[in-house]
Amino acid sequence: MNENNVKMLEFPQRGDERGHLVIVEGMKDVPFEIKRIFYIYGSDTDVVRGQHANKKSQFVLINVAGKSKVKVKDGLGNEAVFSLNRPHTGIYLPQMVWKDMYDFSDDSVLLVLSSEHYDSDEYIRDYAEFVKLVTRKTQSGEK
Ligand code: TYD
Repeated sequence: MNENNVKMLEFPQRGDERGHLVIVEGMKDVPFEIKRIFYIYGSDTDVVRGQHANKKSQFVLINVAGKSKVKVKDGLGNEAVFSLNRPHTGIYLPQMVWKDMYDFSDDSVLLVLSSEHYDSDEYIRDYAEFVKLVTRKTQSGEK
């Protein structure tokens, strides 16, 4: 089940008296080569972002400043909420996980690392369609 692969990651830190330094290397600290980064800031507290799943992209989300929450659903009735509030931790999201990002603090900067370049065709933006796809996969015994 995909939701089981969702996990918090803790990144190595090499801070010293000059300040903090956090390292995130592809295939080392995150389980994929990083092809894309984007970041989200200036979202109001009552905004819900995401609301999609991806057929291909894996993601790691890091609140490098401020905080937010991520709710993940596997489409089979399981869901979990994670708080992103430390710059040296992130959440890993494999393919085919429904995600909502919300509760953004005023100073939230949510950095997202992705295994793929942007392709709108691999985004599933309809929850019913997502449920249909994961149910079909589960029934056919696909991983
Ligand atoms: P969207 O996926 O709705 O953002 P979020 O997941 O944070 O809710 O993306 C907003 C817009 O930006 C949408 O028109 C697609 C575009 N976009 C890109 O062109 N490239 C990207 O890498 C991303 C993440 C979004």
